[in-house]
Amino acid sequence: MHLNFSEMYVDSDIRKAVEQVLDSGRYIKGDNLRQFEREFADFCNTKFAVGVSSGTAAILLPLMALGIKKGDEVIVPSHTFIATASPVKFLGATPVYVDIDPVTYTIDPAKLESAITKNTKAIIPVHLYGHPADMDPIKELAKKYDLTVIEDSCQAHAAEYKGQKAGSIGDLAVFSFFPSKNMTVAGDGGMVTTNNEELAQKISMLRDHGRTDKYIHEMLGLNLRLSEIPAAVGRQQLRHLDEWTKSRRRAAARYTQLLAGMVETPTEAQWAKHVYHLYVIQTQDRDGLSKHLNEQGISTGIHYPVPVHKQPCMEAGDVYLPVTDACVDKILSLPMHPQLTDEQIEYVAEKIQGWVK
Ligand SMILES: Cc1ncc(COP(=O)(O)O)c(C=O)c1O
Repeated sequence: MHLNFSEMYVDSDIRKAVEQVLDSGRYIKGDNLRQFEREFADFCNTKFAVGVSSGTAAILLPLMALGIKKGDEVIVPSHTFIATASPVKFLGATPVYVDIDPVTYTIDPAKLESAITKNTKAIIPVHLYGHPADMDPIKELAKKYDLTVIEDSCQAHAAEYKGQKAGSIGDLAVFSFFPSKNMTVAGDGGMVTTNNEELAQKISMLRDHGRTDKYIHEMLGLNLRLSEIPAAVGRQQLRHLDEWTKSRRRAAARYTQLLAGMVETPTEAQWAKHVYHLYVIQTQDRDGLSKHLNEQGISTGIHYPVPVHKQPCMEAGDVYLPVTDACVDKILSLPMHPQLTDEQIEYVAEKIQGWVK
């Protein structure tokens, strides 16, 4: 048996949608983008959504819109993909790393307040692996210190916090549609969601050269637009998201049932709806298990082996993050996608059991 780590779903509707764009002659700034933005905002229960070229662009643009610059600080977890923090540094500001909660892998609200200084401008909690961060205490602190909260929802399409959709909880939220994500645009793509009209308009302009008109550039922007073909694919994918979320949750429950007692399995906080972008276990000999599974045709991943504060380009110096540092050598991501069958999950569990014995 060979098991892919993740799989992208393609059907005749997606092929048809792409063909329609090809035939239309309209490749950017068309109806597909407008409608994808409307449909995605409706899905997240927000007033606005702005389609952009990647999840990374979706993080950069709100920071640009907020005027984040040298001397400013933005609080982030280090146990995440580098793109949560790299746009902060890219703008000349300083990412300030806060440790994670060992159970949910998301930023630990109890460790937040001591990281806030007079230079802090924003907090970017990450709904890592599809599990929402504990947003209420984060929002409370943000209110107290007048900070903007940007949810990094790149791994959390359709996740919920106390019944509220990821993407609608912070001041802004950002999504990625990279091919392995819970929904994709068959390439790179991203979205910013918000209820703040002024920020939505600013971000819309900034992604399109800061234009107010074809030849007038009011703000210094970039080209970080989402094209019509990915927008058309995204619209089709969005229609399946609820059903795929159910499948992911079902697959996760089955893994957890079969792996109990063998390895540490993920948990779902009582206030959370986890969407299992990744199913991450922990075990002491992670590299041994990973090698064993790969030899049995099972693809695995590590998200992430080197935390952001230890990435050479981030130049963070000495940062004390004991929970982050302790988990990176033990975590292993098992195959996870909505098409995963019971038989495949049982095969993975059987191979893990064979290795644990
Ligand atoms: C948590 C997180 N933040 C940001 C990103 C960046 O998204 P993209 O790869 O679409 O630029 C990703 C995706 O890889 C991610 O997982």
